[in-house]
Amino acid sequence: MRIFAISDLHVDYPENFEWVESLSRIDYIDDVLLVAGDISHEESLVWCALEELNLRFREVFFVPGNHDLWLRDNTHKNSLVKFNALLARCKEMGVHTGPKHLENGGPWIVPLYSWYLGPHEGSGSLYVAKRGEDAKLSMWADKRAVRWPHFEDYVNPADFFLSLNDVRTSDEDHSPVISFSHFLPRSELMFWTEEEFAATGLKPVDPQPRFNFSRVAGCRELDDQIRTLGSSLHVYGHQHRNRDRTLDGVRYVSHCLGYPREREQGRVRDVGQAPLLVWEA
Ligand SMILES: [Fe+2]
Repeated sequence: MRIFAISDLHVDYPENFEWVESLSRIDYIDDVLLVAGDISHEESLVWCALEELNLRFREVFFVPGNHDLWLRDNTHKNSLVKFNALLARCKEMGVHTGPKHLENGGPWIVPLYSWYLGPHEGSGSLYVAKRGEDAKLSMWADKRAVRWPHFEDYVNPADFFLSLNDVRTSDEDHSPVISFSHFLPRSELMFWTEEEFAATGLKPVDPQPRFNFSRVAGCRELDDQIRTLGSSLHVYGHQHRNRDRTLDGVRYVSHCLGYPREREQGRVRDVGQAPLLVWEA
């Protein structure tokens, strides 16, 4: 059994959709794919991409990312309505959006819903101050493209989405757990190590000096859930910075396709022609 991971497909870029279509229709028929969010803001393209992936993999798991919840027309009243519509359609297609124990002694796969917490939204924010940053996040498109309803019993969207996750563990079941989310669970993951940065060959120039990604990165409660679950491996996306690091006993992996211009600039490491193999038994 093999499990592969990919995220941030952004198939509204034709070259990214071609990347999906170029995946082998033979090589993965016994395999599982985790798609850690941000397929497209365009709903029809989300379905097309998932259909293409469903043809190629035995099982596909998906959690929506922020781009998948953008509202560009009046089809959905708000982003939560769109989220629920995405989940319903995934169910019809046989794409998993909830926990599942893979057969034949395989691991549990647990999708974790989440959102990001800004610096004033709670102690779980991943915010790290940056000199000269724009506190209004005016260039962050979610400000215009995501709209929430009033969350009755929850103080913010992160709180609401985290409440949807089933993180109960079974004492009798010692199967390994692999979890995945769109957003980041830890602030350390945002930053290059010196070695990683040196390997990119990039100049040490900040391409977006006013933008502080840590305002919209994720939340620490997500890591609490990862630890409660006892995950040995957590796959995430969102930042378009590919990582593979072990922190306090958990392996965190990000394998984002990202935008074509980011690949050209070397800002997101080219993932090559395949999703990443993260588990093999
Ligand atoms: Fe994202």
